Amino acid sequence: MKNVKAIIFDAYGTLFDVNSAAEKCKDKIGDKWEPFANFWRTTQLEYTWLRSLMGRHKNFWQITEDSLDKSMKAFKIEFSMRDELLDLYKVLSPFKEVQETLKTLKEKKLKLAILSNGTPSLLNELVKSNNLENLFDDIFSIEEVGIYKPNSKVYDMPVKKYKIRKDEIAFLSANTWDVSGGGNYGYQAVWVNRNNNIFDNLDFKPKLEIKNLSGLLSEL
Ligand code: LAC
Repeated sequence: MKNVKAIIFDAYGTLFDVNSAAEKCKDKIGDKWEPFANFWRTTQLEYTWLRSLMGRHKNFWQITEDSLDKSMKAFKIEFSMRDELLDLYKVLSPFKEVQETLKTLKEKKLKLAILSNGTPSLLNELVKSNNLENLFDDIFSIEEVGIYKPNSKVYDMPVKKYKIRKDEIAFLSANTWDVSGGGNYGYQAVWVNRNNNIFDNLDFKPKLEIKNLSGLLSEL
């Protein structure tokens, strides 16, 4: 990758494992924990897109609660699990290579930032609870623009703050639709394909595909 001045990371699914909240409750939830976690995540994302299209914004925490309520009903999960799942969602685990890779990237003197649907307080808590707080120059939350990814106002935030060109940003996401969103916007978009998934047909092919964040190190 050439001329990269800033590396911008998606948060949920890219740095932090969204399934880790339900996984930590697998003894209580049983075998359905994984389909339940996937349904919760899909519903959560659908609500971000639908609310953006309807012009009826709610923040990411409210959407996380609303989507959890639907998912718990769909999977017949005891209501008493609600608070535990939500508390765990606030301290999701990072993927195992995250801290080391960020430390190595930090030494390269590039700007490092998060760009996420999460609220500023959610993102700050996630970063803090996982000891990552000194590694980022900025945490950009969509709350600043009041609309969710993949709206271009979201991807505009780091370009405006750093006064650099779109294609001077390497944007990393594990979410295919977010890679397409950032790539169509003009970033050098990198797909972190952790689970051997299939890419979208949304007029963009990733500049680079890596299995986890450390795959970026040899490409800069
Ligand atoms: C985020 C979602 C897309 O962190 O994972 O913005």
